[in-house]
Amino acid sequence: MMKPIHFLIFLLLVFSVAGDEPVPAPWPEQFHALMLMNKSGSLEIVDLWYDWVNGRNFNIIQKQLGKLTYDLEWNNGTSFYYTLDESRTCRIVHFEVGILRPNWLDGAKYLGQRHVNGFLCNVWEKVDFLWYYEDVVTKRPVQWIFYTGREAHVMTFEVGAVLEDEKWQAPVYCFQKEEKKKNIE
Ligand SMILES: *[C@@H]1O[C@H](CO)[C@@H](O)[C@H](O)[C@H]1NC(C)=O
Ligand SMILES: *[C@@H]1O[C@H](CO)[C@@H](O)[C@H](O)[C@H]1NC(C)=O
Repeated sequence: MMKPIHFLIFLLLVFSVAGDEPVPAPWPEQFHALMLMNKSGSLEIVDLWYDWVNGRNFNIIQKQLGKLTYDLEWNNGTSFYYTLDESRTCRIVHFEVGILRPNWLDGAKYLGQRHVNGFLCNVWEKVDFLWYYEDVVTKRPVQWIFYTGREAHVMTFEVGAVLEDEKWQAPVYCFQKEEKKKNIE
């Protein structure tokens, strides 16, 4: 049996060791990143505009030799997924939760350091979701890898960059579609 004082020292040791572990830098409230995505061999370039201040997140997705697709997400849970070509497709999806919070990595489990693509990274696991790799020196994200195997590689990371307001407008046919649905009901 441990004496209470020993148990207290033991707890202090455990917490001080845990306290030394690095934690992921919170995401800047606004940034622009160019990402290379690899989903089991399907490649995409994603132009990502994260804008927590205005409650919005934009993924402009170029599939390799494929369509340019826009994935516009609002913090109220509504996402517009559309093309701007003659096919004029638009899909609206409602999610329970909004966009990722700047501190969405809080509570991730620290796994140590790895070398990835020439960067020494701290690595965390967000359980049931992904592994996150952050440059030890600059604290910028280098990559994250989803449990599904989808890989996101960060190619540029511009803190504070904001896309002009007029670009955050889903095309008119996104809304016509909703009205059509309403008329049927
Ligand atoms: C994409 O991932 C697959 C494995 O899923 C790998 O074989 C391939 O080399 C990767 N491609 C690139 C360009 O990283
Ligand atoms: C969420 O916000 C967007 C942008 O303001 C809007 O178009 C959409 O209708 C909103 N969704 C809901 C469920 O209020």
